[in-house]
Amino acid sequence: MSTEFTRQINPQPATDEVRAAVLENPGFGQHFTDHMVCIDWQGDVQKGTGSWDNARIQPYGPLSLDPSTSVLHYGQEIFEGLKAYRHQDGSVWSFRPEANAARLNRSAQRLALPALPEETFVDAVRELVRVDEAWVPSGEGESLYLRPFMIGTEPFLGVRPSKQALFSVIASPAGNYFGTVEPVDIWLSDTWARAGKGGTGAAKCGGNYAASLIAQLEGDAHGCSQVLFLDPEREGAVEELGGMNVFFVFDDNRLVTPELTGTILEGITRDSVLKLARDRGMQVEERAFTLDEWREGKRSGRLTEVFACGTAAVIAPVRRLLSHDEVIGSEHERPGEVTMAIRRQLLDVQTGRAEDPHGWLTRLV
Ligand code: PLP
Ligand code: COI
Repeated sequence: MSTEFTRQINPQPATDEVRAAVLENPGFGQHFTDHMVCIDWQGDVQKGTGSWDNARIQPYGPLSLDPSTSVLHYGQEIFEGLKAYRHQDGSVWSFRPEANAARLNRSAQRLALPALPEETFVDAVRELVRVDEAWVPSGEGESLYLRPFMIGTEPFLGVRPSKQALFSVIASPAGNYFGTVEPVDIWLSDTWARAGKGGTGAAKCGGNYAASLIAQLEGDAHGCSQVLFLDPEREGAVEELGGMNVFFVFDDNRLVTPELTGTILEGITRDSVLKLARDRGMQVEERAFTLDEWREGKRSGRLTEVFACGTAAVIAPVRRLLSHDEVIGSEHERPGEVTMAIRRQLLDVQTGRAEDPHGWLTRLV
């Protein structure tokens, strides 16, 4: 049964001129649409009781939180990231939203937050995109980025799961995340880890990103737009970037990516890339991949391309891995052929230019 949303329309939406100016040059995550979704929860996670109520569309605007609200102290926060794409006939679609809904619930379980019915998640996204449809861009590589999130909202300082929560969705027109598909340099974090065994690495929670920022600052100082994290318990084993999964292309039609160990985010783009690569007849390996193998692959010339992927950035070719001590992979000056072919294939499905053989698209408008 679909969730009923009440609608409170924004009495002061952005003017057509302001919206047009944003859509002219959306950037990433800087401008927000006129509305947001909110749904409240009350219950007891430990007892498995509670209900989601008051599903609503309301004007986009500040949340009012008591200073004692649990999320502000103990960080019970999780989020998702997905996009709405405008197709040539004007319709609007999202890509595997049920996978985001399922992952939100895995994150919720890890953070002792309540599960949200998957249909409610998809309904919430649909409601928001319908009311703010005019904000869905139609330019090449552009989309409406959707940011569902959940926080513990009980005003209480005891350390236990919050008995109140808020699920919300906000939306932001998005252009190209890196502003280009030119290969990017990434920084090797050899000091800081973002996750460890039994920790929250596989959950999409704000704390993981907070923990990655110090490494990102180090990367920024070295001209790198993303940071590569290693598995602190397995010598030199590559995990993922701060906001993307990572792939290695070998000259024998092989694609390698670190396996899901519980410390890596189960990227929906990662999973889609694996499927597309298999469709292309590539041999796909999900396994430990070490810096030594990266070095050796470069030395022998058999590792021909490296790329990173995620919803926000789609697929970004990697030029070099830099660290305090070394540079790996200096010859990836141009985006690789396999990288760009998979990128094109994925974007073509998302934007309706190609068949959708896996049934990944859900129509929103
Ligand atoms: N890894 C991390 C840490 C991320 O933040 C993201 C982005 O969401 C990804 C991987 C890629 O996940 P997805 O493809 O589902 O966007
Ligand atoms: C995404 O790709 O959707 C992300 O969440 C990555 C980053 C913007 C946090």
